[in-house]
Amino acid sequence: MENNTNKRGFGSDNNAGIHPDILKEIISSNTGHAAGYGSDVYTEQAQNIFKEHLGSETETFFVFTGTAANVLGLSGILKSWNSVITASTAHLEGDECGAPEKFIGCKVLVVDAPDGKINPELIEKHMHGIDFEHHSQPKVISITQATEMGTVYSVDEIARIASFAHNRNMLLHMDGSRIANAAVSLSLPFKAFTTDAGVDVLSFGGTKNGMMCGESICFLKPGLSTDFKYIRKQGMQLASKMRFISAQYIGYFRNDLWKKCASNSNAMAKTFAEKLKQIPEVEVTQKVQSNGVFVIMPDKIAGKMRNYYFFYPWDEKKSEWRLMCSWDTEENDIEDFIELLKKELKK
Ligand SMILES: Cc1ncc(COP(=O)(O)O)c(C=O)c1O
Repeated sequence: MENNTNKRGFGSDNNAGIHPDILKEIISSNTGHAAGYGSDVYTEQAQNIFKEHLGSETETFFVFTGTAANVLGLSGILKSWNSVITASTAHLEGDECGAPEKFIGCKVLVVDAPDGKINPELIEKHMHGIDFEHHSQPKVISITQATEMGTVYSVDEIARIASFAHNRNMLLHMDGSRIANAAVSLSLPFKAFTTDAGVDVLSFGGTKNGMMCGESICFLKPGLSTDFKYIRKQGMQLASKMRFISAQYIGYFRNDLWKKCASNSNAMAKTFAEKLKQIPEVEVTQKVQSNGVFVIMPDKIAGKMRNYYFFYPWDEKKSEWRLMCSWDTEENDIEDFIELLKKELKK
């Protein structure tokens, strides 16, 4: 059980609260009546904002969770006899309780990627049995940006995977649960490493970066979203009071709030990693390119630290742990952690 204090820790970017500007936006949309199920002005406005950021062909649908964004988005482009190829570390593979298999009925094929990033050379091993009715048919490649390991794909890396997919009549899906952290890391507009790099379907997150709840599925090419409204309803993610998800996205994009929040969490992760690297008993195991820091530290010490701050194990066999920074992480949170860690190591 996670310790349940109100102290800011490093357990997850989901553990942070809601940014006050998002709350204000929810409150300002809470006047009078508005049509339900997305036929309201807030939803129209939010969908238009997505067109500005991702391209005029973008069709956006709002849902409650990132798992729903991934699974329903993929449902729109996969049949049960298809397979989706992804990293073995992908949320889709390890943290969605088999939802893709249950809801789509498709096969998930994995590629080992120690830094969370896959590439055409690794994906190639699954490219066999094409047109052979005894074999599932690879149809989608799914990448996560930023990855579960805190690394970030470059535009070229994404474009290579996209052309590999398109040359084989396949599509590219991106799990952008932390897409704002990736945009800040790359110093690029969203469109440059999604639509322009060849991504077809995008889960565009918000919850991990200051929103209360709300994720979106963005179909970036015409024709891909034709039946999606039925899939979302059957998938039980058609919000009756959708205006309150849409309003959050309006607030998220207003004055580039997304950028402010992700810049803070990325910068804090960098500072955290620098300080951790000064401690000989601690090893930072991944490049820190977004808001996650992965460390190996002595098991016993990690256990003690977890009495003060909850954080998740990543690989228990190696005593590797995941420390996440959030939109509201402050330098003194990091200093407190480092001070406590040093104290425990000295005991
Ligand atoms: C990479 C990634 N994708 C998607 C999600 C969304 O998950 P949820 O269904 O918990 O909102 C998460 C949340 O941890 C994640 O880390």
